Amino acid sequence: MASRPVTPPPADTSAAYRRVSLAYQQALRYAEDVRRLYVQLQRGIYQSLLGLANALEAKDPYTRGHSERVSRWSCRIAAGLGMESSDIDVIGQAGLLHDIGKIGVPERVLCKTGPLDADEWAHMRRHPHVGADIVAPLEFFSAGAVVIRHHHERWDGSGYPDGLCAEAIPLGARVVAVADVWDALTSDRPYRPARQPLEAVRVLEAEAGRTLDREVVRTFLAGL
Ligand SMILES: [Fe+2]
Repeated sequence: MASRPVTPPPADTSAAYRRVSLAYQQALRYAEDVRRLYVQLQRGIYQSLLGLANALEAKDPYTRGHSERVSRWSCRIAAGLGMESSDIDVIGQAGLLHDIGKIGVPERVLCKTGPLDADEWAHMRRHPHVGADIVAPLEFFSAGAVVIRHHHERWDGSGYPDGLCAEAIPLGARVVAVADVWDALTSDRPYRPARQPLEAVRVLEAEAGRTLDREVVRTFLAGL
């Protein structure tokens, strides 16, 4: 039996297909360029904020390196809790910037070595929401702003700025709170030397379920 000749597609259809295919590939390349630029822009803004945070720490030798350590501990806890890598990244960045609102605290209060009076405490207690306001324009960092705002809330509701308690406190803020307390305990302060690690562990255990999330403390201690 004679085979039927295969009819090639019309020339103009084939050319149209190639044009559409080329346009599609070009659109993909543009989309990738835009995505890359957006990531670079985010990184640039974030680095600027980090510069501000470092400038803040430079004023006070006792807190130097605090933010980076809080960030590292926070990431480790978040990973131990099984959080997604994108959430761990946000918590790490929020850990680095958690005290950025102290830019709004007068230097005489920030660097005071003695106990703060009521007025000075009022200044100090504003730093979480001032920090959240500073990063608020960064739409890509809205989850980080929430962590910054709530890093001084306490499990029993005695914290600030909103007096949230237990699971009403965003998980990222509960994570940063444990890292923050640990670093404060194990660092020298003008009014007291750093606690020994074993003593700091006992303090955390005592605070678990009282001011700090018990599960977050347990995860932190398991990773020590
Ligand atoms: Fe703070």
